[in-house]
Parts: sequence; structure tokens; C-alpha cells
Amino acid sequence: MKDYGKFIGSLSFDARLAFFDVVGSIAHVKMLAKCGIISQQEAKRIIKGLLAILAGMQKGRRLPQKEDVHYAIEAELIKRIGPVGGKMHTARSRNDQVALDLRLYIRDEIRAIYELLVSCQKSILVQAKKNLDAVAPGYTHLQPAQPILFSHQLLAYAWMFERDKERLKDCFKRVNELPLGSAALAGTSFPIDRKYVAKLLGFSAVTKNSIDAVSDRDFAVEFISCLAIIMTHLSRLAEEMIIWSSVEFGFVKLSGAFTTGSSIMPQKKNPDAAELVRGKTGRVFGDLAALLTVMKGLSLAYNRDLQEDKPPVFDAADTVSGCLEVTAEMIATMQVSKKRMEASAKKGFIGATELADYLAKKGIPFRKAHGIVKGIVDHCAAGDISLDGLSVQEYREFSKLFGPDVKKCIDPKNIIESKKSLGGTSSKQVRMQIEELSKKI
Ligand code: ARG
Repeated sequence: MKDYGKFIGSLSFDARLAFFDVVGSIAHVKMLAKCGIISQQEAKRIIKGLLAILAGMQKGRRLPQKEDVHYAIEAELIKRIGPVGGKMHTARSRNDQVALDLRLYIRDEIRAIYELLVSCQKSILVQAKKNLDAVAPGYTHLQPAQPILFSHQLLAYAWMFERDKERLKDCFKRVNELPLGSAALAGTSFPIDRKYVAKLLGFSAVTKNSIDAVSDRDFAVEFISCLAIIMTHLSRLAEEMIIWSSVEFGFVKLSGAFTTGSSIMPQKKNPDAAELVRGKTGRVFGDLAALLTVMKGLSLAYNRDLQEDKPPVFDAADTVSGCLEVTAEMIATMQVSKKRMEASAKKGFIGATELADYLAKKGIPFRKAHGIVKGIVDHCAAGDISLDGLSVQEYREFSKLFGPDVKKCIDPKNIIESKKSLGGTSSKQVRMQIEELSKKI
């Protein structure tokens, strides 16, 4: 009969939990000794053995080929220190052990991803400050809508990342509960001290129901959900990069580190890194769908299906980390063409709303003003002229309410400065955002 150990086992992917497995075991063994379940002497030998295993792994030593990382470490321990190594597994099961390892791993990943979000925010802040005077067209439907400060648009992403950070912080609270001590599903008859282990490992609470603790992975689902939302933000920013760096737009130039040439078209500078961030979003959504599907309909308590929780968690964390790192650097190193943006901000009749507001402020009902300006836009479009190509006299042919100040009213810079409402695009408001965000990173 063929050996199906590889199919059943998980060492090929859960070996990356080895560090957390050892850390968890050390805390467990310390507790066993403190509670008199094993002797201090035995605990010392086990801990020394575990630390040696860790040191060996750091030097590249591989674990013995066992079913999973928990068995592999135990086998290696017994090989090194003898049968006393077998006492390590007193009062626990692999079920609570693996739940612990995954929580320890996710805790670390949350911290690391949080920092990567901060570095993306820092890159955005640097660019937002440096280009504070850059006037750009703002879009709806990817059609020119109203002029904005380029910094304002960039900062929109910094706020998204701020919420992503908050979501991760909140998720951390539910990850940060100790499942160890739940044993296989029912708890244990050994006089263990779970609170002591929680303290040693920095958990803020112990889980309240042993069946729940070994069988739910909602903390992991929540973690990947947070990551999926981060990817939606990253993919949107990536899409902007792709559009902005196109020849037609030319708003930004991406550093050569993030673009590639074509094997046939010598002129090409493709924004591959941004495209990959956009593309990898699908993987993380897939990871979320995979884990949700693993969990759906599982009866209590532990089922081996749960072993399939790890690949999507690892893949989502790796993917998001890589994408955040690339994005932070891509933003920090991009060159911004204020000239191209400003020229663009004059096209597309982008001052039209302002003209309608101008008339509305003089007492014409806005709906009527909208109609008058639509007439002006149609006239300009037919003659291929821009809004500032009309003379005051010509404006007055559409409405006698237009005065000499109409020219000022359609200047993109003036339009921007007029948007003084809280959170608006005026330079004062944008500076306030920069200040507020700087305090948060
Ligand atoms: N490798 C297993 C997993 O990842 C560890 C727990 C095994 N428990 C069991 N009862 N077979 O889920």
C-alpha cells in the first residue's frame, strides 16, 4: 500500500510555526513545573533541549520527518534528551497546541503588517508634503470632475491605511486569548495554571470554553478579512499608479525598480509591480474564501479539516506584506509631474460646477444655473475651446449675471482654495490632514 503520510501530514507547511511551537512549549513546561506536575529538574532539561532545537533550526538544521511540526519537535527533543522529553506533552493535546501556535503566529504578523501600513503612510506623507502645490484633476467615473490638490488624493489612501491599522488592532484583541489548557476538547484533570501561561506568553485573557478554543478559527478568518480589505485599498492605489504613469496621463514616473521593458517593444516601461499588487489581490480574496469554506458546517470540536487553515493564512500574510513593502517604496520613489497634472486640470471643462455655483450664489436656482452652464460647455466643446478661452463678454451672452470675476472663478487654484469645508481640498484643509496623520504614525 502506498504511504499517504504526506497527504495526511502538514510538516511541509507548518514547519514555519516551529519557533512559536517551541515558545509555547517552553511556557507550558514552566507552568507544569510551577504546578508540581513535573519536577523543576525535568523542566530545565526539556527547556534546554527545546532551546537547542531552536538554535539548530536557526543554523538551518531540518526537523525529523514526522506528521506535523508538533510531532517533529517532540521527536527531536526525545532524541536529544531521552524519554523525559515525552513529559512535555502532559496536560495538552495537539489540538490546543496548534490553536496556540497559530495565534502566536498571527499576533506577530499583525504587528509586522501594522508597521508596513505605517511605512506606506509615511511615503504618502512625504509625497503629500513635497507636492503640496500640485494641482490635479479630480475624477468621478474616471472623467474629469473638479480640480483637487494631488496631495489630497494621495492622502485619501493614508486614511484608508489608518482604518486598516485600526481594524488590525481590533482583530488583535480577539487573537490575543490563550487556547492552551483546553487539551483535546474537554480541558484536563491535571492541576494546570492557564493564567500563568497566558502571562508568560503575553496573552490578555484565557479562552473560556475548551470546545470553542480548539475548534474555531474565527480569529484567523478575521485576520484574513482585514488583509483582504487592505488589498482592496492597495489594488486601488496600484490602479491609480498604472493610470497616472501611462503616457496619456504622465502624472507620475515610477522608479525603474518597479517597471519592466518589453521583449519586443523597445519604448515600453510597464508598471508591473503595481499590476502585480492589483493581481495579487485575487489571491488574498481567495485565501479568505478558502478558510471560510474550510470552516463552514464543521461540527464541534476539532476536525482534521482545520489543518487546512494554515496555507491560506500564511499565503495571505506573505502576499500582503510583500505588496505593502513594494507599495511603500514605489510611492516614496515616484516622480511627480506637476506640469502635466496642472495642464490636465485645465482640460475637460473642469471649472463647470464652479460656474454653476457662481450663478447660484447670485440667486439663480441651481438647476437653472446647471442648464445655462451646460449650454456654455456645449458651445465650447463644439468650438474646441476651453472655459477660460471665452471672454467675459461671451460669458455675458449666456447670462447677464456673469461679471469680470468669472475668469477668476474658473481658475483651478482658486477653485481648490475655495473648498474650505472640513476635509475639503483647500491647501489649509490638506495641511491639517497632514498634521493629524503625522501624529498617528
Ligand atoms: N497538524 C494538525 C493541524 O494542523 C495538528 C492537530 C492534530 N490534531 C489531531 N487530533 N489530529 O491541525
